[in-house]
Amino acid sequence: MEKLVITGATPLKGEVTVHGAKNSAIAILPATLLCNGICTLNNVPNIIDVRLSCQILEQLGSKISWVGSNTLVIDNRNVNKTHAPLDLTSKFRASYYLIGAMLGRSKEIEVGLPGGCNLGARPIDQHIKGFAALGATVNLSQGKINVKANKLVGTNIYLDVVSVGATINVLLASVFAEGITTIDNVAKEPHVVDVANFLNSLGADIRGAGTDLIKINGVKSLKNNITYSIVPDQIEAGTYMLAAIATKGDLLIKNCIPEHLDSLTSKILEIGGNVECFDDTIHVWYTKRPNKTIVKTLPYPGFPTDLQPQMGVVLSLASGTSVINESIWDSRFQYTAELNKMGANIIVQGKSAIFEGVENLSGAPVYATDLRAGAALVIAGMAANGVTEVFNLNHIDRGYEKIEEKFASLGAKIKRVS
Ligand code: UD1
Repeated sequence: MEKLVITGATPLKGEVTVHGAKNSAIAILPATLLCNGICTLNNVPNIIDVRLSCQILEQLGSKISWVGSNTLVIDNRNVNKTHAPLDLTSKFRASYYLIGAMLGRSKEIEVGLPGGCNLGARPIDQHIKGFAALGATVNLSQGKINVKANKLVGTNIYLDVVSVGATINVLLASVFAEGITTIDNVAKEPHVVDVANFLNSLGADIRGAGTDLIKINGVKSLKNNITYSIVPDQIEAGTYMLAAIATKGDLLIKNCIPEHLDSLTSKILEIGGNVECFDDTIHVWYTKRPNKTIVKTLPYPGFPTDLQPQMGVVLSLASGTSVINESIWDSRFQYTAELNKMGANIIVQGKSAIFEGVENLSGAPVYATDLRAGAALVIAGMAANGVTEVFNLNHIDRGYEKIEEKFASLGAKIKRVS
């Protein structure tokens, strides 16, 4: 079993470049199925979830090759299957995007019910509601979901919860639907906008991505060739920002979009840290103990749930009592038990966690319980006195490319050991 061994208490210093966004890449890869031609994607993170998406597309008939370390060429001209491999699709969450994309392409798809990080109940009722409203028939049985339609017809859809997945999935299914589709109460995350930008670059007619209402004017066909660059990863950038604060460091974070991190920036300023934003670079530094604060996770542009565990590390070291209220996922505080092993003082009460700040954390063996929990534990290890061993790296490798190499280049004493 691999582990990361971290000798902590070294401030991170230097420059780091952010990769393309995981959550965008794993939506745009299936979205390429709407193109019966060749898509070249730049700025693709080379992470497990992307490689898994590629494997699934290949089994449907796509020909995919890496050209250089972060460019993928996807040829979908021979995609002819409508049943995706159940073992692979049930392994990760974003396989549900195959449904919207293949409904658009072939009017039929069968996939395994989506897996992914264990963050609590992860229903897909809003996706299903959207597909049905467009005219599809949805059948769920024996761990799989089969969706088919004779034709898809545009309509008005109101999502009962703000859902990134449902927004993107219904959007994918609407690109070729007859007439106009409106999707109301949609998610506004940067990767929702990125998927819409990708589809519009291909010739789709989508307006309003980034607002509460998306309007899709159905088109008959898309271009058969495109080169597109994935948006920088908001969560990876935020992870470095919080690593800088937790380790009392000084980082220049390049290839990011500072506006995507406004909610985090304002929290960092509130707890005493320093943030300076440039066009595509963020400078974060702080050498003192952070102040306490209250954080509530919300859909974008609110504070992202995917940065909540990393923020939790900072607040476990802040002076005074801080509170995090998690409003998106039920089981997102599993990392707190691991942080408590390192000397943190955190009590979880339902959807809230109370952080009695401690002066120092101390190294311990800890287990990543999900992707962002893993990132948080790496940050904790780099901030703590002594040696931390982080296990369950499969979670971290799903979403961070070369995490130990990047942190090592910033001065962290971190190595991967088999
Ligand atoms: C995506 C991200 C994940 C992030 C989350 C919230 C991907 C692959 N994953 O997950 O990293 O934590 O957004 O920013 O992009 N819900 C329903 N019914 C539905 C769909 C969702 O009730 O049909 C609820 C969920 O239980 C949750 C909330 O809506 O409480 C938000 O979920 P959603 O935005 O859909 O998350 P994902 O797309 O799964």
